[in-house]
Amino acid sequence: MSSQPKPQILFSRKEIEDTINKLATKINNDYRGKHPILIGILKGSFMFMADLIRHLDFPLEVEFIRVSSYGRSWQSAGKIKVVQGLRSPIKGRDILVIEDIVDTGLTISFLMGYLRKKKVASLKLCSLTDKPSRRQVPITIDYLGLTAPNRFLVGYGLDWDEKFRQLPDICVLENEE
Ligand code: IMP
Repeated sequence: MSSQPKPQILFSRKEIEDTINKLATKINNDYRGKHPILIGILKGSFMFMADLIRHLDFPLEVEFIRVSSYGRSWQSAGKIKVVQGLRSPIKGRDILVIEDIVDTGLTISFLMGYLRKKKVASLKLCSLTDKPSRRQVPITIDYLGLTAPNRFLVGYGLDWDEKFRQLPDICVLENEE
């Protein structure tokens, strides 16, 4: 039986909570008087989305979108497509995309292009974490939480082969290959 890598805390639940508070303050400021749609990217962003919106004090709607993503592989699969689309029209709306992590940037670059084509009023990106050293395409993150080293992260929604999503802290894996 192959040994399972052991998670070690990189960003604690307290750091995550503080980060979300700071992000929410900025977002509340910028979206005052607006009624945006927040689009979470499945599956990784579900926990972040749930915690973030509890701090937002303007009217908003929640949608989710799912794109083809990493499997067991530690590298981006390359070809990206929408596998679960939006349920309501977004034309003319203010859109805030909620992402768990920006790595190479390929996924979010594809998705922002896909959403922009739908003639939205505004389109911004909020990501809890970022691995800038891995970037392959330039990405503007309007609201960024935590900058991470070039390690594979799990926990707080992030998975490795569907494991570790439920960890309350963001961790790196020991025995990483
Ligand atoms: P990108 O296209 O390389 O930027 O990858 C973005 C997607 O890959 C994220 O939405 C995650 O689903 C996944 N991903 C990238 N890095 C990690 C990681 O360190 N842990 C877990 N998932 C990751």
